[in-house]
Amino acid sequence: MTTQISRDLLAQAVDQSNDGITIADASQSDWPLIYVNAGFERLTGYNASELLGKSCHFLQGTDTNQPEITLLRDALQQGKNCLVTLRNYRRDGSMFWNELSLSPVRNEAGTLTHYIGIQHDVTARILPDHHLHQTAPRTPIQPDHPVIDIDGRFEEQFSHMLQTAQRTHSLLSVLVIQPDEFKHFNERYGHAAGHACLRMVGERAAKSFGRSSDCIANYNGDEFAVVSTSDSAEGLQQHLQKLRDQIRALNIPHSDTPDGVVTICIGVISLVPQRDTTAQELLNQANTALQEARRHGHDSEHLV
Ligand SMILES: Cc1cc2nc3c(=O)[nH]c(=O)nc-3n(C[C@H](O)[C@H](O)[C@H](O)COP(=O)(O)O)c2cc1C
Repeated sequence: MTTQISRDLLAQAVDQSNDGITIADASQSDWPLIYVNAGFERLTGYNASELLGKSCHFLQGTDTNQPEITLLRDALQQGKNCLVTLRNYRRDGSMFWNELSLSPVRNEAGTLTHYIGIQHDVTARILPDHHLHQTAPRTPIQPDHPVIDIDGRFEEQFSHMLQTAQRTHSLLSVLVIQPDEFKHFNERYGHAAGHACLRMVGERAAKSFGRSSDCIANYNGDEFAVVSTSDSAEGLQQHLQKLRDQIRALNIPHSDTPDGVVTICIGVISLVPQRDTTAQELLNQANTALQEARRHGHDSEHLV
């Protein structure tokens, strides 16, 4: 049994919904908005007066290569329902993940008259750390695996590993890892998303170099330094290739890289250290190798 409710109550319910609710005119080709609720104003930071009469595509900013936009376009042209999750940008330029549901409205004759859009902010679900870091974007990275600070245990551990390799004439590898186009990532998605991205990359790298003989630290803000002892040069190269694949498989969207996802470059120095080799020299050489990897392009490595 359905209970009758007044039109006023219905209007109030729609207006006060937490999600965005929008209605577009289907008689015009670019689907201009004829109604937006207060939830949509809150979500996007725009006032209704700035939105009415316009098509919503401006919320995509310059980020218009998202495959979901083609799905949207096709569904609208065919008068069908659709549910997509895409990146949108608020009035202040900050990015949010918009789970957008579109439904056609038809009159009694079956003619499409309107489209209803429901917009749900799912940023916290897609970037789980996003909300935690919104107020403190520069907090240190503390994943489950021990990515440690360059000024703390890392230096001590590095120095110990270097001395052991010098004494036993064994191979030592120093790597510097950096996400590609990270400056653009921060500009496009904001520092909170940048921080979450670094955390995911750092955790993946820490898992990859998770033996007790390895150590890894967050370094120079957006880089990771790794010191590893036990790989042969060939074994190490395979390990690096696997790590690059794993980072790509994290599927962190990044519209400024050729693959559309976050990739990394890795610079490596691998050698049997001399008695007078210092940790700083090795880090400098790994950094020079990183610059060389970056010259090759995105998602590459350079080993010396
Ligand atoms: C009712 C309605 C609401 C929409 N809401 C959004 C939205 O919140 N974000 C978005 O990126 N696109 C939204 N769109 C889709 C765009 O307005 C546009 O139709 C889509 O980008 C495809 O058009 P294009 O070919 O001009 O890019 C909505 C469309 C309709 C009909």
